[in-house]
Amino acid sequence: MALFGSKKTENGPEGSLLPAHVGIIMDGNGRWAKKRGLPRKAGHVEGAKTFRKITRYCSEIGIKYLTVYAFSTENWKRPADEVGALMKLFKSYLEEAITDFKDDDIVVRFIGDKSGFSRELRELMDENEECSRDREGMVLNIAMNYGSRDEIIRAVKTISRKVRDGELSEDDITEALISDCLYTAGQPDPDLIIRPSGEYRISNFMLWQSAYTEFVIMNKLWPDFKTSDMDEALRVYAQRNRRYGGV
Ligand code: FPP
Repeated sequence: MALFGSKKTENGPEGSLLPAHVGIIMDGNGRWAKKRGLPRKAGHVEGAKTFRKITRYCSEIGIKYLTVYAFSTENWKRPADEVGALMKLFKSYLEEAITDFKDDDIVVRFIGDKSGFSRELRELMDENEECSRDREGMVLNIAMNYGSRDEIIRAVKTISRKVRDGELSEDDITEALISDCLYTAGQPDPDLIIRPSGEYRISNFMLWQSAYTEFVIMNKLWPDFKTSDMDEALRVYAQRNRRYGGV
């Protein structure tokens, strides 16, 4: 890509300037709707269109892993009609996604606690994972009912059970073991996390995995986010000098 023609630093994994793993906190749907005098759910509908467009674009330009934050463990606190509208949106999206991403060769995965959703949604999630499992393209992690603290608690419980049962000793507890007990087991940590809408918060997203992630905050509400904004975030990332605590 021309975008990465003017190399400045050897940045990402194996010196690549294109991040292997990008996380996106899809924020600003509510404000987008409010600005237009529309109900918040209209912002989510528009946000879902942006999500499809950006997902496809990331796959086309060679991103290997994309993780999007669609619904947090805390989002259940929202008014019932907004949560209901989001569940409806997830259902229609998941029904379409089974065929939608076929030609894009995208592997769909869900990270988070599926048990919080209706049986219908859980089955759709399983179906999406099942039918995309053997594809070889970009892995799309959709974080739904995801909270990073919850994810870490689950990992601690898994490990403590294994120590109790004698399968592991205390000395076996390493960073790699903890990573292997997270929803993202086997995947590289995100190189870049993008948060549109101008908020400077991590909001319980990939806390363990983002120890050395580069953050790019964009002053755009998610429904307004364009492929050119993605290019801009990647350009900013490519200029960063990643030191991982070294010099
Ligand atoms: C945060 O914006 C956004 C959400 C809680 C929902 C994100 C969901 C989508 C973009 C729908 C698409 C996802 C799938 C998987 C179909 P906000 O409502 O908190 O915005 P605000 O800060 O402006 O209020």
